Amino acid sequence: NDRINIAIDGPAGAGKSTVARLVANELSYIYVDTGAMYRAVTWFMTKLGVEPECQDEVLRHTLNMVLELRPGSEGQKVFVDGEDVTSYIRSTQVNSMVSRYAQIEGLRTHLVHLQRQMALRKGVVMDGRDIGTTVLPDAEVKVFLTASVKERALRRFSELSDADDMSLEQLEKDIAKRDALDEQREISPLRCAEDATVLDTTNMNIQQVVTTIVSFCKSQR
Ligand code: C5P
Repeated sequence: NDRINIAIDGPAGAGKSTVARLVANELSYIYVDTGAMYRAVTWFMTKLGVEPECQDEVLRHTLNMVLELRPGSEGQKVFVDGEDVTSYIRSTQVNSMVSRYAQIEGLRTHLVHLQRQMALRKGVVMDGRDIGTTVLPDAEVKVFLTASVKERALRRFSELSDADDMSLEQLEKDIAKRDALDEQREISPLRCAEDATVLDTTNMNIQQVVTTIVSFCKSQR
């Protein structure tokens, strides 16, 4: 078994999920989108009306919910208690709330535990904010993807399920705000691991980024 684990971190809209999915395809690895897990919890709490300040209640519901990532034809699908919530978790509502739930320590401990289990047998491409630093500190390949805020806002604009409600300028502001929350939180903040390779993708296309990461992986094995 010469499979390795690949950690891809970076701020919102840097292209992590697209790139991670394609790298996983090329290597026949499993793609794990950890942001989708924080988003699914956020969607569920919003539905239940549980505010991020009510940490005990958030935890209680999180430990009781069945959260599943399943491979689908157009990428990973997310299920909460058997319901496909994939299309709900990319809304502006979830975008604006997710970083506040993601600060809850117990919630992070629980999701990190699930994420490590998915990577036990190796052959995983995992994307998020704290994969190289906290979830998989021993990942054989670590990449930190960045791009300018403007470029990231443009990329997110085309991905939002309800983009018409929002101007590009507003999106840029929201992304900058989410970056700040993710970078400044106390528990495993968004940070580049010391041994990660930084890739600024502002002027790279997706295939260039994928090829670069796959070449890192091949030189590792
Ligand atoms: O990657 P994505 O934009 O879907 O992540 C949504 C949010 O989930 C991030 O802004 C961050 O607050 C949280 N997150 C996190 N740790 C991860 C992945 C996502 O805190 N590993």
